[in-house]
Amino acid sequence: MKILVTGGLGFIGSHTVVELQNEGFEVVIIDDCSNADEKVLDGIGAITGKTPIFEKIDLKEKNDVADFFQRHHDIEGVIHFAASKAVGESVENPLLYYENNIGTLVYILKALSKKERSNFIFSSSCTVYGQADEMPITENAPVKVAESPYGNTKQMGEEIIADTCKVTEGLNAIALRYFNPMGAHPSAEIGELPIGVPQNLVPFITQTGVGIREELSVFGDDYPTADGTCVRDYIYVVDLARAHVVALKRLIDKKNRANYEIFNVGTGTGSSVLQVIESFERVSGKKLNYKVVDRRPGDVISAYADTTKANNELGWKSEYTLDQAMKSAWDWEQKIRNKS
Ligand code: UD1
Repeated sequence: MKILVTGGLGFIGSHTVVELQNEGFEVVIIDDCSNADEKVLDGIGAITGKTPIFEKIDLKEKNDVADFFQRHHDIEGVIHFAASKAVGESVENPLLYYENNIGTLVYILKALSKKERSNFIFSSSCTVYGQADEMPITENAPVKVAESPYGNTKQMGEEIIADTCKVTEGLNAIALRYFNPMGAHPSAEIGELPIGVPQNLVPFITQTGVGIREELSVFGDDYPTADGTCVRDYIYVVDLARAHVVALKRLIDKKNRANYEIFNVGTGTGSSVLQVIESFERVSGKKLNYKVVDRRPGDVISAYADTTKANNELGWKSEYTLDQAMKSAWDWEQKIRNKS
C-alpha cells in the first residue's frame, strides 16, 4: 500500500516513515528540503533496509501537487507533516506561515477530494488548547485563541479539514494533537536536526551537554507548579511515529467512527523543566550548566494529555519513559557532533 508522507525528511516525519516501512507500507516522501536534508534518506535506509521514494516538491506550487497525485493515483493515505514550526518566526513573518501551512494543506485536500476514498492524517498540536483550564487535557477541552500565527495555522488547519470532511464523504481524516515530541531513533541513524539555536528544550539541553551552548536558560521558576518551572508532556518521537501508523490503519480498515476525528498524543504524565534536566543528568552522567531567567512570553504554565481516547479508540499507548527518550536524544547528539 502506497502512503505519501509530506515533510518525510523532517524530525517526526522521518521517524514515521521508518515505522510505516517496518509495517510493510510503501512510502513516497515529498519534502522541499527547506528545513531538512536528503541524507535523512540514508538513515531511513540503514534502519529499514529500504530507501523510500523521494520527490523534491514545493507544496506551495499547486500545479505540482495536482501533477503528483495524477502520477501517483494509487496513493492510499497521506500523512501531512510539511509545515513551518518556529513560533517566533511566525510572529515576525505571519504570511510565510499562512502560505506554508495553510496553502499547502488546501492543495492536498483539493487533490484528495477528487478521489473516491482517501485517508488523511494531520499534524496538529496541543498548542490549540493554550492554557487549558483543567489537567490532564482531554480532546473536549476548548480551543483557545492562538498565541501565535504558527498556533493559528494548526487551529485553522483543523477547521479546514473539518469543513472539508463535512462535504466530502470519501475523505477520512484524523488530526493528532502532539504534546512535546523529543528523542531520536534508538539506532541513532535519524533524529532532530535543529537549524541554528534550538528553541525547544530537549535539543537545547543536549547541545549544552555536548558543549555547543554554554548554558541553558530555564524560563521562569515562579510558576504555580510543584517546583516552579513549567510542566509539559514529553512524548518519545518513536511512540509518536507509531501513533500515526495506528491512526492510518484505523482509516484504511474503516474503523473510524466519524470521517473527522481528533486524538491527543502524549504520555499522560507532566514533567517540569527541572525534571527534564534531572533526566538528562541521570542518563548522561553529566551536570548540566543552567540558570534561571525570566519567563518566556507566551509559555503556558502546564500542559499534559489525557490519553484515554487514544488508548481506547486507537489501542495506542506510549511505551518509553522520559529517561529512555532522553538517552536516545543524548546518543543522537553525541553521534552528530562526532561526525562533524
Ligand atoms: C513550543 C511551542 C508550541 C509548539 C511546540 C513545537 C512556544 C510558546 N510553544 O512548545 O507552540 O507546538 O514548541 O515543538 O514556543 N524551556 C526553557 N529553556 C529553553 C527552552 C525551553 O526553560 O531554552 C522551557 C519552556 O519554557 C517550556 C519547556 O521548556 O516550559 C518546553 O519548551 P519548548 O520545548 O519550547 O516547547 P513548548 O513551549 O511547550
